[in-house]
Amino acid sequence: MNIAVLGAQWGDEGKGKIVDLLTPHFAVVGRYQGGHNAGHTVYVRGQKFVLHLIPSGILHAGVTCLIGNGVVVDPTALFHEVDELKGLGIDVDGRLFVSDRAHIILPYHRELDVLSEARRGERKIGTTSRGIGPAYEDKIGRRGVRLCDLTDAPALAEEIEHNVHARNQIIKDTHLDWRQVYDTLLAQAERLKPWTTDVSLRLHQAMAAGQRVLFEGAQGTMLDHGTYPFVTSSNASIGGVCTGLGVPPQAVGGVLGVAKAYTTRVGEGPLPTELHGEMGTRLRESGNEYGASTGRPRRCGWYDAVAVRYAARLNGLQSIALTKLDVLDGLETIEVAVAYRIGGRVVEEFPAALPPGEACEPVYEQWPGWTTPTKGATRFDALPEAARKYVARLEEVSGVPIALVSTGSDREETIIRDDRPLAAWLK
Ligand code: IMP
Repeated sequence: MNIAVLGAQWGDEGKGKIVDLLTPHFAVVGRYQGGHNAGHTVYVRGQKFVLHLIPSGILHAGVTCLIGNGVVVDPTALFHEVDELKGLGIDVDGRLFVSDRAHIILPYHRELDVLSEARRGERKIGTTSRGIGPAYEDKIGRRGVRLCDLTDAPALAEEIEHNVHARNQIIKDTHLDWRQVYDTLLAQAERLKPWTTDVSLRLHQAMAAGQRVLFEGAQGTMLDHGTYPFVTSSNASIGGVCTGLGVPPQAVGGVLGVAKAYTTRVGEGPLPTELHGEMGTRLRESGNEYGASTGRPRRCGWYDAVAVRYAARLNGLQSIALTKLDVLDGLETIEVAVAYRIGGRVVEEFPAALPPGEACEPVYEQWPGWTTPTKGATRFDALPEAARKYVARLEEVSGVPIALVSTGSDREETIIRDDRPLAAWLK
């Protein structure tokens, strides 16, 4: 059975660890959207790996990793990541492939990202400044450059000249020479060539040969369907699997959402359960909540069941991997938002336009915390009773079984529950 693993919150749910952990059950891992804005941190025997573009499955020898047409690829970032992995003894040759239809992030995309943020002033999105939005804008605007376009030098020259001319009109105080962009791209094309392939075809062939595929999401559902315009520019939710890898919906057998036992977000935009005081700091420090890509401190808050229920509905989540339960160890009381109060009304469904700040007040339930640590637990029945009750309540209010509980950053610090869907999918 093929499964999709995607974020049920605002990104940074811990997908990297979950994908890495599940990869031994699969022959192929395919990433379907986003770019090097993502930061997937994986710890293997205490060694830390941060992956941005390359699927987290790469840490397992023999697994094929595919970057789909829905991903935007910055060649410099990709080379850097490949070289870093090589330095750590992980060879990607012959098992990392990038779609010939994937769009390329060009230097002016990064500049336009920064400019657009500056122009928005206080209304800025808080992007990762990696050029993600402008690269997707060019894709939608039908002026993007794909990996396959690198083989047609005259057409490429024309496109780049046209795009850089437009850039020079927008950013008036500096001048970019299109030839420089073009020459760099041609040089990069040489290194990209052996990795460039028809990813959709490769996936179809793999599936026809009975190989199992894991579809890996980046960012999270709320950065796609959630708090517009404070979102990313790609489809992190389930539909992105089909459009971003070129596979039919029947290819997806199971959908596993990843959710943290509390909530975090980087960047601007509404976050109803955000904690500004001591408790927010406590979660940030215990959970080491700093962006894996940008190092920015993450905003922290209680578990938001309204958001996770919404993600469950949009993605058809059949199962949840709950991460970082151990970060809550030692808290006296833990809160869970089950609804919002907006304009005097109790709202249970995630609204299209979420009012900022205090205009959206979470309706909280209080749950007793636990003193016996959950850190490192590998069996559900070994968890303190209050932690088991907390997980059971999250299942009820989110409407999805919690099949996996992560109790630490290492692979071994994980509980997989036999009586929930995931265990059967892996057989
Ligand atoms: P962009 O994707 O760089 O355009 O940023 C848009 C929004 O998505 C910002 O709020 C970013 O902080 C957020 N974002 C992008 N990638 C990630 C991620 O991997 N984890 C969490 N937030 C992200």
